[in-house]
Amino acid sequence: SNHQFCEAGIGYGESQCGIYSSSSTKLLIKGGTVVNAHLQELADVYVEDGIIVAVKPNIIVGDDVTVLDASGKFVMPGGIDPHTHLAMDFMASQTVDDFFSGQAAALAGGTTMHIDFAIPVNGNLMAGFQAYQNKAKVSCMDYGFHMAITKWDDLVSRDMEIMVKEKGINSFKFFMAYKGAVMVNDDLILEGLKRCKSLGALAMVHAENGDAVVEGQKKMIELGITGPEGHALSRPPVLEGEATARAIRLASFVNTPLYVVHVMSIDALEEIAKARNSGQKVIGEPVVSGLVLDDSELWNPDFITAAKYVMSPPIRASGHAKALQAALSTGLLQLVGTDHCVFNSTQKSLGIDDFRKIPNGVNGIEERMHLVWDTMVESGQISATDYVRLTSTECARIFNIYPRKGAILAGSDADIIILNPNSSFEISSSSHHSRIDTNIYEGWRGKGKVEVTIAGGRVVWENDELKVVPGSGKYIEMPPFNYLFNGIEKADARYLSSLRAPVKRSNS
Ligand code: URP
Ligand code: ZN
Ligand code: ZN
Ligand code: ZN
Repeated sequence: SNHQFCEAGIGYGESQCGIYSSSSTKLLIKGGTVVNAHLQELADVYVEDGIIVAVKPNIIVGDDVTVLDASGKFVMPGGIDPHTHLAMDFMASQTVDDFFSGQAAALAGGTTMHIDFAIPVNGNLMAGFQAYQNKAKVSCMDYGFHMAITKWDDLVSRDMEIMVKEKGINSFKFFMAYKGAVMVNDDLILEGLKRCKSLGALAMVHAENGDAVVEGQKKMIELGITGPEGHALSRPPVLEGEATARAIRLASFVNTPLYVVHVMSIDALEEIAKARNSGQKVIGEPVVSGLVLDDSELWNPDFITAAKYVMSPPIRASGHAKALQAALSTGLLQLVGTDHCVFNSTQKSLGIDDFRKIPNGVNGIEERMHLVWDTMVESGQISATDYVRLTSTECARIFNIYPRKGAILAGSDADIIILNPNSSFEISSSSHHSRIDTNIYEGWRGKGKVEVTIAGGRVVWENDELKVVPGSGKYIEMPPFNYLFNGIEKADARYLSSLRAPVKRSNS
């Protein structure tokens, strides 16, 4: 990025970087179309001290209130990104966006909250949580944590309870890939699913068969395919489909809800469809890269260009993206994340001779809201209300913070965007706010621009200018037992009562 922090260290922008002075704590957003997942209406929105106080037409206010004109525009809940990796140590590198720069980028793109994956330290959850609390001190927007489970013992099991009951974490992620690093086996997944169920925590999976991936990688290297295309070829959709099916069946066996992160292929989609059609509680999260791109650039002769698209599971051939879009529009998939996990060209170059060493991950935290609008709403596949549901509301419901987040209702946090459907956006690494030096959406132009972002009642993005304060973001504790857990006990009881009496045998 060409952006520098101001000398003062707190302004952040292009044309006019100023020290943020806390402007009026009272805001009126006037004349816009307020869009919630359940309803779209013409209304004003009045905000005081970070909270939405009123949503109704023709609100009259005094001179001390900052008024924003939203006529002809959509006033929507700020985006919530359920899947990010800020300041993560991964594959011998650390992601270049930390909790300040990644969040600043998010705010410039209309996202006002994210949920990051806290990674345990040598398997230790408490140490991992503390490390991420420290990383997040510079936050300029609200955030929550999922926690990864990378090994299993009594301490991990006990710490999961502490995380849920005392630390505000209500979801745990299991990596079925990255063998030799964070990958876990079925035995651990089963223990983890049982523990998640008893705590009311949501189990999440990165679904790829990690053993088979290693086989696939060996095969590519033997064939002399060492470039970025080898990454995609070594871990085809069938391996994503297999792991997705396996995780879904194990979750069914335990009878607990499952959330599949970064659904990238038709193969995985079909498994989710089958499970949902049978009544199983499975959530599928596509990420923007998989939703709007295809794998063709992995064959680009320029290594850096190709390597910037390397993520896992890989971005697939074009038919997969179309199917993921259709699945979002019909409700088969429920929300969109980014998996924002950014490495600079120099870091990607670690794998110049061997794709296995290219740090995995792509950008998206800043682009998600624009690209989902352009790809899904502008194309006519979904409505504005659907858009709010897929980018914000459903995430808030799943992670049990609705309607504090994910809604424009009296009493909700004032995390709000104003989107102008007649204005256009253009994406480039020369103008984006992330610290990454490339952008997988370079040159993308589209319709529908986030003109204003309000986070915690403060205007943080306006006139293409960011005004963000490190330390102003709040940690959002997320309580267990979301709506997916409703009825689980009844289903378990029904199962037990359906078991026929044990057979009494004379020889036993
Ligand atoms: O390539 C990816 N997805 N990097 C981030 C780690 C993960 O698997 O989510
Ligand atoms: Zn500046
Ligand atoms: Zn993953
Ligand atoms: Zn991820």
